[in-house]
Amino acid sequence: KIAILDFGSQYTKLIARRIRELSVYSEIVPFNTKPEALADPAIKGIILSGGPRSVFDTDAPALSPGFWELDKPILGICYGLQLMCHDFEGKVISADDREYGPATLNLAKTDHPLFAGFDEETRVWMSHGDRLELPPEGFDVVGTSENAPVTAMVHRDRPLMGIQFHPEVSHSVNGDRLLRNFVLDMCRCPQDWRMEDYIDATVAEIRERVGDEHVLLGLSGGVDSSVAAALIHKAIGDQLTCVFVDHGMMRKDEREQVEQTFRDRFGIHLVAVDASELFLGRLHEVEDPERKRKIIGRTFIEVFESESAKLPAPKFLAQGTLYPDVIESAVAVGPAQTIKSHHNVGGLPEKMNMELLEPLRELFKDEVRRVGRLLDLPEVMVERHPFPGPGLAVRILGAIDRESIRILQEADAIFIEHLHTKGLYNDVSQAFAVLLPVRSVGIMGDGRTYEQVCALRAVSTNDFMTADWTRLPYDFLAEVSSRIVNEVKGINRVVFDVTSKPPGTIEWE
Ligand code: XMP
Repeated sequence: KIAILDFGSQYTKLIARRIRELSVYSEIVPFNTKPEALADPAIKGIILSGGPRSVFDTDAPALSPGFWELDKPILGICYGLQLMCHDFEGKVISADDREYGPATLNLAKTDHPLFAGFDEETRVWMSHGDRLELPPEGFDVVGTSENAPVTAMVHRDRPLMGIQFHPEVSHSVNGDRLLRNFVLDMCRCPQDWRMEDYIDATVAEIRERVGDEHVLLGLSGGVDSSVAAALIHKAIGDQLTCVFVDHGMMRKDEREQVEQTFRDRFGIHLVAVDASELFLGRLHEVEDPERKRKIIGRTFIEVFESESAKLPAPKFLAQGTLYPDVIESAVAVGPAQTIKSHHNVGGLPEKMNMELLEPLRELFKDEVRRVGRLLDLPEVMVERHPFPGPGLAVRILGAIDRESIRILQEADAIFIEHLHTKGLYNDVSQAFAVLLPVRSVGIMGDGRTYEQVCALRAVSTNDFMTADWTRLPYDFLAEVSSRIVNEVKGINRVVFDVTSKPPGTIEWE
């Protein structure tokens, strides 16, 4: 395996993910892990991660004494490189301005195996303040770039190497190749890691941590909480209780589907609460999107708390937090503007005095889907598009009532079903229908109609931070439009949203 010494970079987990992609096991350990522990022969190589600090800080994170006596391949990335340089008495300087973004790596003539398969010039991704001015004695500079005279250096006799750029981010062309060269060719790691191993290890960890206590999980029916539920259930069975709060603004038949999958098929202890009266009562005549979100968020917590108060006091609150959520909330610390107040179960654990259990915290979405499949969750659940916490409330513009919910559920179900039928569902990142609070005139049969407008939204995106509208085939749109107008009473016109994000957001409210 590979040991990744963590100096606090937000990309550390991404390094681990890239190594998993090579079917190699890696472990993230604290930066000051003792060399005796790292000498373990199972550890074939070591990566020093990046980090937010400067080697000049008085309390800069440093390696444990004796670290550099280890005789195995060691790759320093960003801060890891600077630390290597600093410890071997090269020259690191603090730069006034940070370099952040793409740069061109110029490789000197080198036959170093780390760069096998690289062109002379390669686009790489930089994110650093300090930089190297002079390499230490014994190291050769093998790569340079405009703003960093030492972008890559390697030791002449020992397997020590460092790079200023981040090979783990996808913007670094050939970054995966570099990690492959290091992990497979230089460290000679066996490619024997499988996702099943992750499941086994996590199940064992959950058992160990939970003991004979109880765990509570807010199940939404989305991919993340569903996979978390299946995984935790595999570990502790009946000690897990899932609470599903139906606020009345779910997709069509959602509660039934959740009950069927989790209660009937998996035998999970599931409390499904129909709280739609309460939610819809409080939302009566509320039109403002932010007020809607606040009311739903608050009411959700209230219902969740009162339901869980009826259960044997759980010590743990489980959540399907993924690694990108962890990063996003870390980055969100700061004066970031609230565009929309996202509603999640966040904020609950402090209030409820429970410990958090987040078994998917290390994983990325596609990996969570793989785990879900291995745990036998139905494919429709594993591949599901994201659905916002406030549900259809933010897709019915203006005030909400039961009739508009019914109309939107019908239209949305037709759109989604047709995407499945035509094999387009997985080509789209998220698709849904929106009900507009305007009426338009139409003609059906011999009669005039005066009904609502439905907008279809389909987006393609990697991270949901930016998105483009999906170019769905015209014929497909024609079929969906005709089905909705014919089958859904209350809608007589369908439009297609062709706005990207930004400037639009994905949801309409
Ligand atoms: P926007 O509309 O901000 O949406 O472009 C980005 C992604 O976030 C989802 N979304 C939410 N998810 N609670 C959630 O759990 C919310 O309040 C919420 N609002 C938006 C949206 O569906 C899209 O995937």
